[in-house]
Amino acid sequence: MCGIVGYTGSREAYPILIDGVKRLEYRGYDSAGVALLQDDNISLYKCRGKVSELERFCLDKNIKAHTGIAHTRWATHGEPNDQNAHPHLSEDGKIALIHNGIIENYLILKRELQRRGYQFKSETDTEILVHLIRDISKNENISMAEAVRQALNEVVGTYALAIINTEQPEEIIVAKKGSPLLIGMGENEYFIASDGAPIVKYTNKVIYLEDGDVAVINTNKKIEIRNINNEKKRPYTQKLEITLDQLEKGDFPHYMLKEIFEQPRAIQDSMRGRINVEKDVVSLGGIIDYEAKLMNAKRFIIAACGTSWHAGLVAEYLFETLVRLPVEVEYASEFRYRNPILNEDDVVIVISQSGETADTLAALEIAKERGATVIGVCNVVGSTLARNTHAGSYTHAGPEIGVASTKAFTTQVTVLTLMALSLARKKGSISLSYYHRLINDLESIPQKIDIIFQQNDYIKQIASFFTNKRNAIYLGRGVNYPVALEGALKLKEISYIHAEGYPAAEMKHGPIALIDEEMPVVVIATMQGTYEKIGSNIQEVIARKGKIISIVTEGDTQVKEMSDFCIEIPATEELLMPLVSSIPLQLLAYHVAVSLGCDVDKPRNLAKSVSVE
Ligand code: AGP
Repeated sequence: MCGIVGYTGSREAYPILIDGVKRLEYRGYDSAGVALLQDDNISLYKCRGKVSELERFCLDKNIKAHTGIAHTRWATHGEPNDQNAHPHLSEDGKIALIHNGIIENYLILKRELQRRGYQFKSETDTEILVHLIRDISKNENISMAEAVRQALNEVVGTYALAIINTEQPEEIIVAKKGSPLLIGMGENEYFIASDGAPIVKYTNKVIYLEDGDVAVINTNKKIEIRNINNEKKRPYTQKLEITLDQLEKGDFPHYMLKEIFEQPRAIQDSMRGRINVEKDVVSLGGIIDYEAKLMNAKRFIIAACGTSWHAGLVAEYLFETLVRLPVEVEYASEFRYRNPILNEDDVVIVISQSGETADTLAALEIAKERGATVIGVCNVVGSTLARNTHAGSYTHAGPEIGVASTKAFTTQVTVLTLMALSLARKKGSISLSYYHRLINDLESIPQKIDIIFQQNDYIKQIASFFTNKRNAIYLGRGVNYPVALEGALKLKEISYIHAEGYPAAEMKHGPIALIDEEMPVVVIATMQGTYEKIGSNIQEVIARKGKIISIVTEGDTQVKEMSDFCIEIPATEELLMPLVSSIPLQLLAYHVAVSLGCDVDKPRNLAKSVSVE
């Protein structure tokens, strides 16, 4: 996915645009560009690389303007280079356009435009849009906004668009379908952005565009928004939920480390107001209207991607243990194309930090079409997922900027735990004493995580053991198996060391062939029902000279004696263990990546939220 920023008003546009795309770099950062309306001319500067490269490129350029658009890219069609960077310009230089999304029928449209004599400079799908809009606006006596709408009627795919043109020098046209876009309302100035991060510094009054909307923003007239049927829509202004200090790194060297250390507060915020000890009730306001559907569910299906999918695997243990209902956890990308069998007794839970992941949104729509009740667990207020589910709960983790999810995972697991506890209590599927034990332990999790932070320096020492390794294996059993997967994902996505998570008993069925003295094996061996079994798995690894890095319950001696490195974490209820056992694995991955000089917050090839297929 990509980041889009626009500005029109009395201020200098360039500083606002550059600062804005920097705040969106977590969405994609392989190339960047800016287009500025200067009198009746558009100046366009773009290049491969991060926004800092674009800044260097613009040092000697004419950047004076009051209207402009800027883009930071995560390549879908066409490799990251200067030509494929956005914005894209019409042949006559009168229109500039930036895009986040995928135009699925771009090849057909491209061939038709080439037949009409248009020359293409890039390999992108996006470029067809600027030529198509120009072609329509040139051949028909209509407004640029109408030309945009007509062009979009020929397009199949997803888009968030921002367009400037020399015929209306103080105007930005925006359009949205399937990729997020919002308008910030300042004092006689307008901002547009893919999310609130570039806007919150100037205003907290925003309009979230809906799919099919085309809006014209111009400081000389009222905002005009029309829907897909060209009907005027009354702009609905909302308050931006984030604050500027949430977007800053503060004293931390990386957003990821800040977000790891924010987890005690984030978990508290995800519980706030949802556990009423006096009334002895756990309640999630966002799903209360669908309580009957949840109580009568015959099955839960969880659809998500990446880390959110791992949170779903933890939820499988939570719901099946506490609510005694079958749970199926699906990769959203597989679920959406599998022609799934669903009915009205099914509850589908879609989990997403960003609320914009294309595969998860597609799974959401299929579940709704087939009659299931769709519940969301999401971190971004006003995101597409939050607006399209029947009901849901926010994780209240605050903005997660680091591409590698950390607080998103633990707050998702917290909300899913509350959801399972609330249902179990109402269904009477667990004893009151166990229910209270879990709630008391859940409320102590933030303090337990703070205790783990005291081992940060020791974990940093362990990280140095990984710096010359090319592979690693993570093992866990039961509810710690998803934690093994999550720990492996953290390591591979920010340090580029190949790492795989396995159920510990699976080692015997093949992966054990990989074990030798060069293979670090991270084992989550906290006190749980299968503790003795995992001790045997560790012995099998040691017998083949594998190196053991273990995560154990404090006071453990048995596994500790077997380990080359051993991280002790506070005892906690087995079902709640992922909330604590995942923390040392986040810190381990972070320190390995830093020691290897990797870009922790913006790892290569990745983006924070994949809003395209
Ligand atoms: C995990 O660290 C990655 N950032 C990635 O796997 C992420 O969890 C996945 O893309 C899903 O994103 P979402 O939660 O925003 O839907």
